[in-house]
Order: sequence, then structure tokens, then C-alpha cells
Amino acid sequence: MALLAECSLAERDLIEAPDDGLHAQFRCDVLTGLARPQKVIPARWFYDRKGSELFEEITRLPEYYPTRAEIEILRERCGQIAADVGAGRAVVEFGAGSTAKTPLLLDCIAAASYVPIDISGDFLRESCEGLAVRYPDLPIVPVEGDFTHPLVLPKTVAGRPALGFFPGSTIGNLGPAQAVDLLRAMRATLGEDSMLLIGMDMIKDRSVLTAAYDDTAGVTAAFNLNVAARINRELGGTIPVEALRHRIVWNDEQARIEMHLEATHDIAFEICGRDFAMRAGETIHTENSHKYDLRSATQLLLAGHWQPFAHYTDSQNRFMVVLARAREEAITA
Ligand code: AVI
Repeated sequence: MALLAECSLAERDLIEAPDDGLHAQFRCDVLTGLARPQKVIPARWFYDRKGSELFEEITRLPEYYPTRAEIEILRERCGQIAADVGAGRAVVEFGAGSTAKTPLLLDCIAAASYVPIDISGDFLRESCEGLAVRYPDLPIVPVEGDFTHPLVLPKTVAGRPALGFFPGSTIGNLGPAQAVDLLRAMRATLGEDSMLLIGMDMIKDRSVLTAAYDDTAGVTAAFNLNVAARINRELGGTIPVEALRHRIVWNDEQARIEMHLEATHDIAFEICGRDFAMRAGETIHTENSHKYDLRSATQLLLAGHWQPFAHYTDSQNRFMVVLARAREEAITA
């Protein structure tokens, strides 16, 4: 029931059958989010099997530059990153390793060990198997857990200075308060003398940003619409998915791309016995993707108990990878 802490009592009452926590949380988030004046579904629910496949496809789209730009940075700035990080750190990746990015980092720095942390044991096992073949001499110590909370690292790595690795600008999908909480949790997990290498997408020309989130092949639209289809599949909903369209908005004040699902005409549907309606033009807000400049990235990291001291950008200045040190004052804070 701990997962359901944010659910109202009414939503908890619906959850009477023996159910796994994740499914119950999905139902809770959907029922509470769709009852709000601005309907909202948290972006984490994009990533079922279909959504994860669509996201993989997005990363290969010509318009979606972040993945390629970050790979370019890790490849081209490898020498400088290695010099700034130094040798002998335990690399702690927040999330199961990316097949493209993790080896670039491990090839670049002389790591003492590699510790991926992910809530999904299956993802972890899959990615560790491949890495163990590629790096037979590197101790690989997977940790199955929720890295949004401080975790105790395995004994084999505790005591060694750590380098946290959080690529992909996933931090940008969190609101500022959640992002600060996550950075503080990472700081608490990694301990004193640790460093963090984090990917952050940059504010840029609006046409480049909007093309990246509204590609001509319609893959991002399919990714966005899949969350409505997922509600129908997993919660027995009756959302008329064909009456929704993918819509993106650049929110200049918050420096973020917003994804919405917009009703093309008045619709009504049901989920878990609850009735919902949307007027034509009304939207469900499904994702925020915050973009940063050096100033806003620095402010966020400082608030998260990290002191940035180097950053690396790609040749077109679209994306940055920031290296930060654990702030000492955080120990007593
Ligand atoms: C995972 N995350 C960093 C992606 C992003 O760019 O915000 C998710 C995404 N949404 C639409 N396209 C990609």
C-alpha cells in the first residue's frame, strides 16, 4: 500500500483484489490524473513493452537529435572526460545500462567496477550479460532497486569513490522539485568524494525542438497515443484512441516541451467504473521534457547537492553532459 500513498481513499477502495503494486499504482495515477481540471498521466507510464520499443525507434529518428548528440559527446570528448574523472572509480549507472552509451563510458575511463541500478531485474540481467562478455575483467554488481530513494551500495563498491552516470536527459522529464529530490537521493547513495556525469538537453531553436517531438513519420505520436491504448489494455478502459491526437507545446516560461493528447471532438469514456469526458480541444498532459542552459543546469545541480565543474557539448551545441562533484555541505544538510 505504500506505493498508493498519493491515492485518495476513493481510489484505494477500488483496489480490493490481490494485485501487484505496479498495476495498482498505474490505476491510481490514471484515475486521479484524469479527475484533475488539467488532465494528466505521468510520463513513466509510457514505458510498457510497446512504448519502450517506440522510444527505441524515436532515438533513431533523423529529427530526434539528443541520443546521437550525447553519443557524439561521449565518443569525441572521451579523453577530457577520462582526465577530469580520474581512474579507479566505481561507475554507478542509474538505470539499466544503455547498449550504446555505457560501453562508451567504460571504454573511456578506467573504472574499478560497474554497478547498474534498476527497478526491473529483467532489464538488469539482460544488460549485464552483454557487458560481462565485453568486459570480462570488470567486476559488475547489479542492484535491483528504486534509485529515486537513497540506496546502500554493495560492500564490494562501498568505500571506493563513485561516479554516478545518468545519461539521456531523463532528468528533464521530472518537474524541478522532483528533479532536485532525485539528485539529492543520488548524492546520498553515492556518498562523499563522488562525482556525477549527467546528460542534459539544451534550450535551442524552437523549430529544432518541435521537430524532435513531432516527427514526420509519426513515431512520437504513436508513442504518445500508446499510453491511452495501454489504459484500455491494462485497465479495461474505453478511451476512443482514434479521437485523440498528438499535440506538442513549447512552454517558454518553464523551458520545456510538453506532450499532450488532444480530443478532436467531444468524447466520453469509462475506466474502472469511473466516467470521464473531454470536450473538443481539451487535452491530457502526458509529458514534460525540460531543456537547460548552463545557468539553469547549474542551479538545479546545486540545489540537488552537486557542484558542477566541467561540461561537454556536441559540435552543434544541442546537448550537454555535465560533470559534478558531491557538495560537502550536503553531508550536514
Ligand atoms: C526519455 N526522455 C528523455 C525522452 C525526452 O526526450 O524527453 C522521452 C521522449 N518523449 C518524446 N520523445 C522522447
